[in-house]
Amino acid sequence: MTTSVTPKPLLAGVIGNPIHQSKSPMLHNYWLKKNNIEGYYIPIEVEPKNLKSSISSLVDLGFRGINVTVPHKTAVLTVANFVSDRASVIGAANTLYFSNDGQITADNTDGYGFIENLYKSYPAWNPKSGPALIYGAGGASRAICYALLAEGVPKVRISNRTKVKAETIAENLGARIEVIDWYSSEEVLNESLTIVNCTSLGMIGQPKFAPNFSRVPKSALVTDLVYNPLQTAFLKAAIDCELTTVDGLGMLIYQAAPGFTRWFEKEPLIDKAIRQKLLDVP
Ligand code: ATR
Repeated sequence: MTTSVTPKPLLAGVIGNPIHQSKSPMLHNYWLKKNNIEGYYIPIEVEPKNLKSSISSLVDLGFRGINVTVPHKTAVLTVANFVSDRASVIGAANTLYFSNDGQITADNTDGYGFIENLYKSYPAWNPKSGPALIYGAGGASRAICYALLAEGVPKVRISNRTKVKAETIAENLGARIEVIDWYSSEEVLNESLTIVNCTSLGMIGQPKFAPNFSRVPKSALVTDLVYNPLQTAFLKAAIDCELTTVDGLGMLIYQAAPGFTRWFEKEPLIDKAIRQKLLDVP
């Protein structure tokens, strides 16, 4: 008599606090279902004081890895056995991979997701064509600045309400970063070819943010990391000036793809249906 061995389900998830707002479970479970993979992606609320023990438990339980969201993105670096160069420079990780022997690798796919979304949404985008202007100097901004430099943008200008935070990014990321005063940022718009809102302005419940884009070259690309609402005042201001825009939802999808591929051994399909599904759920 032969006995058939049922393969163990593949496990992954996302940790954060709070976690109920995360769209990652819907995204990964959609891809799991679409690909008929016997796997589960679970949202897990983790208190900061339990970070290390919670991750150890997930490793012990056989998880393949996890996504990491606020407030754990920096603290997880201390739990990892290996940290990728980009996560190390950015100072934060959003994706952990667990090896069969329990080793933890921390990576940051935010910048990858951002760049991939721009290329896929607007294939004519040429990062090398000229300077970029980034509004904001939080965690997201740091990842985007790093990714833009790696992609060959000749100069990345950062403008942030709290200037010292932009200066810290400039110190960490080097000579191609320039800090611009928050109230003088319009002065460089005429030579900005990639313009990114990395502030939380424009999110539902936050004040609107709509710079005067009238002097921006027509070949420029304007994008916003805020995806709720999908068309922010920032993007609307750019559209009114006949500029090309890319919304922020794609970055959320593309940053998730490397984790899914590694944990569930299948490259996910990124289609219109998944965008719609994410939009349908508040
Ligand atoms: P994330 O991890 O998404 O980058 P964050 O680290 O909290 O989030 O960063 C939020 C960004 O939005 C910061 O650049 C913040 O500016 P400050 O560094 O001056 O706080 C910016 N931001 C939030 N509210 C703002 C406001 N009312 N005006 C201007 N910038 C604002």
